[in-house]
Amino acid sequence: MSEQSSDDRCPIAILISGRGSNMRALIDACAAPDFPARIVMVLSNRPDAPGLEVARAAGLRTEALDHRPFGRDRAAHERAVDATLRAAGVEVVCLAGYMRLLTPFLTEAWAGRMLNIHPSLLPAFPGLHTHERALEAGVKLHGCTVHLVTERMDDGPILGQAAISVQIGDTPDHLAGRVLEQEHRLYPAALRRFLRPETPPADGGSLLVA
Ligand code: GRF
Repeated sequence: MSEQSSDDRCPIAILISGRGSNMRALIDACAAPDFPARIVMVLSNRPDAPGLEVARAAGLRTEALDHRPFGRDRAAHERAVDATLRAAGVEVVCLAGYMRLLTPFLTEAWAGRMLNIHPSLLPAFPGLHTHERALEAGVKLHGCTVHLVTERMDDGPILGQAAISVQIGDTPDHLAGRVLEQEHRLYPAALRRFLRPETPPADGGSLLVA
């Protein structure tokens, strides 16, 4: 008799542009039988993104949708991305170092179903070079944020944050390394909570990982 179990894990896609270490953390999390997501695709706007090879080695379907042939027509590239995601039955999208400014087309198409990870404690330091800017500003706490994506860059409802303390003598590279370790813990935890909000939180509900 063949065993058929219904799979109630959410089909997700991970969008990357680079090395994909957060993608790797999500791949590892999804390997646990009780994790509420399964990865149906890793998609990159950069065909040479090192993370694509990591995803392939993990046995995942990969898609490279180069943005360059679309020139300045960002929405046309996004329509191709959107069609690819929908055709694969994706329900939730995780941006993980996806270095594209999104247009309202994609943010509206996936409103409430697209997550991003950002290397700062938002709303502080949206945009690039967050670790340098945190040091320049003299903040004592720094970290990372998982949030829902809206039309505004690095904005939208916060799903979780992880904080580290800034040490005397820290450089941007030191900070980046310590924040990245927290990113790898936070993203799977935030995704789990997002997909299974009824799961009793281990952290009192704030999803502050530190
Ligand atoms: C991470 O710092 C993430 O927060 C930011 O881009 C970087 C991607 O790194 N959005 P990786 O490709 O996941 O290693």
